[in-house]
Amino acid sequence: MVKVYTIASGKGGTGKTVVSVNLGTLLASFGKETYLMDADIGMANIGLVLGLQDAPVTLHEVLAGKATIGDAIYEGPAGLKVIPSGISLSGFQQADPERIRDVLSEIVRRCEFLLIDAPAGISRDGIVPLAVADEVILVVNPELSSIVDALKTRILTEVVGGHVRGAIINRVDPEKADVITRKMEKVLGVKVLGIIPEDPNIRRSTSSKVPIVIKYPASPASKAIRRIASDMAGISYTEEEPVVAKEKFIDRFTKALFKKKPKA
Ligand SMILES: Nc1ncnc2c1ncn2[C@@H]1O[C@H](COP(=O)(O)OP(=O)(O)O)[C@@H](O)[C@H]1O
Ligand SMILES: [Mg+2]
Repeated sequence: MVKVYTIASGKGGTGKTVVSVNLGTLLASFGKETYLMDADIGMANIGLVLGLQDAPVTLHEVLAGKATIGDAIYEGPAGLKVIPSGISLSGFQQADPERIRDVLSEIVRRCEFLLIDAPAGISRDGIVPLAVADEVILVVNPELSSIVDALKTRILTEVVGGHVRGAIINRVDPEKADVITRKMEKVLGVKVLGIIPEDPNIRRSTSSKVPIVIKYPASPASKAIRRIASDMAGISYTEEEPVVAKEKFIDRFTKALFKKKPKA
């Protein structure tokens, strides 16, 4: 069964973090034991997006051999388990991306899904997540530079022995969805797994540190992401708003006070 998905792109800023955070949140809300790992160890964003920027132990320390993975797992929205990366430059320099393989074997035993938010580019920290995943999902914008970089990433994934499941086209004008889907499948040579429209609610939800699928579940982007997550989980898509367990205020407050971590 497919468990480990790397969300990659080639080009930066295509929406990898938005997609991985929201897919992870939905999979967790479906009752699937889901982990989300920020493998963008140079430009880590997941901690910021989910309000975990002060996490005392991150993937940096784990990849530097200074901490175990159990210490870098935090409670996220809807029961999602989050492994953030640190934001310091020295942490990045000390982190050895090859150690991701050991981390993976540890997490895979615990979960039904592991989503890896990959860095842009093709340096070593970018290549390891492509090679270790069961499936790579490309997040592409409908513009030439993004498509060319996604194509390069597809080829690179195959060269390192990985497998591309397909592409998610993000920031699409809904009126052009069909044309774009056909073009993308032709140019990229992979299946289009979903289309996410341009949606200003994404930016709003990011600044409130709550994933859009929780904050604005009826928004166009949330519906599109829910459709993709339902496919991944093998459940039928429903237009109804999902019952996403919101973290209780008291839990958030306690966590903020004591930086309490979930039980591993
Ligand atoms: N569908 C969308 N509609 C509007 N804004 C989006 C959409 N997807 C992503 N964004 C915005 O684009 C920026 C980059 O997204 P992000 O997920 O951080 O990209 P990446 O992780 O690939 O670098 C963010 O500011 C985000 O809010
Ligand atoms: Mg990112």
